[in-house]
Amino acid sequence: MEISTSKGLSGTIAVAPDKSISHRSVMLGSIAKGKTTVHNFLMGEDCLSTIDCFRKLGITIEINEDTVVVEGKGLKGLSAPKELLYTGNSGTTTRLLCGLLAAQDFTSILNGDASIQKRPMNRVIEPLSKMGADINGINGGYTPITIQGKNLTGIHYEMPVASAQLKSSLILAGLYADGRTTILEPKPSRNHTELMINGFGGNILSEGNLVTVNPALELYGHEITVPGDISSAGFFLVAGLIVPNSEICIQNVGLNPTRTGILDVLIDMGASIEIIPYEDGGIEPAGDIIVKTSKLHGVEIGGSLIPRLIDELPILAVAAAFAEGKTVIKDAEELKVKESNRIAAMEAELKKAGVFVLATDDGMIIDGGNQVKGGLFESYHDHRIAMSMAVLSLAAKGSSTIVNPQCISISYPDFFETLSELQKNG
Ligand code: S3P
Repeated sequence: MEISTSKGLSGTIAVAPDKSISHRSVMLGSIAKGKTTVHNFLMGEDCLSTIDCFRKLGITIEINEDTVVVEGKGLKGLSAPKELLYTGNSGTTTRLLCGLLAAQDFTSILNGDASIQKRPMNRVIEPLSKMGADINGINGGYTPITIQGKNLTGIHYEMPVASAQLKSSLILAGLYADGRTTILEPKPSRNHTELMINGFGGNILSEGNLVTVNPALELYGHEITVPGDISSAGFFLVAGLIVPNSEICIQNVGLNPTRTGILDVLIDMGASIEIIPYEDGGIEPAGDIIVKTSKLHGVEIGGSLIPRLIDELPILAVAAAFAEGKTVIKDAEELKVKESNRIAAMEAELKKAGVFVLATDDGMIIDGGNQVKGGLFESYHDHRIAMSMAVLSLAAKGSSTIVNPQCISISYPDFFETLSELQKNG
């Protein structure tokens, strides 16, 4: 995909629907009683993998344009799959299914693509085993994973990493366990699972970093409208800031405070960002965001901000390349075990663009504000690396090529269409 320097981006757009909420709507809709209708569902490959797995678990799921209707069969309604459950590139599908399947009365086998086969699954295998699960990976904790359903018991678990996928996996197992499950997070991570379960009639309590899961008797299907994904909005926020003469309004973006770290950081960097929250918000707050070209400066990003912007760090590294002075990203070692090693990937690609960047053990240091040049950029088959380098290319000197950009359809199938809408207007 060729990208040339942009003279300006302008217009009003909606971004791809939220990936995390879309996954959970199918998972929870499947184990709730009755119909769950999901409007504005993300038709990205990851969420389609989730639909495919739940169909194999005996759930009828209809897709009608951007609406998904899940015919939930109740907490005990899943049936034994006749074949392997293929989770594609999706860590969320793989890890959340581990927790859910550990408590069913049948055996399942999960596997995903080459990237999933390299991602650590011990983080879920270990605590689920403590709950009584019979769950085994290969080579010390990788997919394929075999799960023989068992009766589980609630435990208290102190999570070694702030991960919503791990937390959600344990919450799903805890719904079926004898007794309460309590989960202590090192730092709060996204809470979409907790909010949606409670919206479906469950009883999950959150106090500070502690989540208490009360086993559910039954959950009940609901109508859900998925807001735009703030992680996808992040690419156009940064594009609007670094491309000269730009002004973009992004409508209906999810503003759950466990996800809005990117807004805090960009504002801290000097960005002109206006947030207009919707008043009639459902359980997931949303609003419009208006961004204008701004002069940015470097900042430090670490601590409890990290789980609130973990997927936005590649695009924040691009913002840092255009910001005056030093940006330090720390406490983000989790980036090494995402769809690619995002520390190594961003270091290599930013260097090609002439950016002064140094990878560290838990992040990177970027000395920004110097000339950024176009080039031939790799995607590492990682959607967020591909989109980050596409945004960098818009503001770089000289044209660029993104190699293997197809991976963008994991989370944002219409990314280039939205971009060209803004360019036409620019
Ligand atoms: C997600 C949680 C995060 C995030 C991923 C989606 C989720 O992963 O990176 O894209 O939907 O729960 P971790 O929980 O591994 O940090």
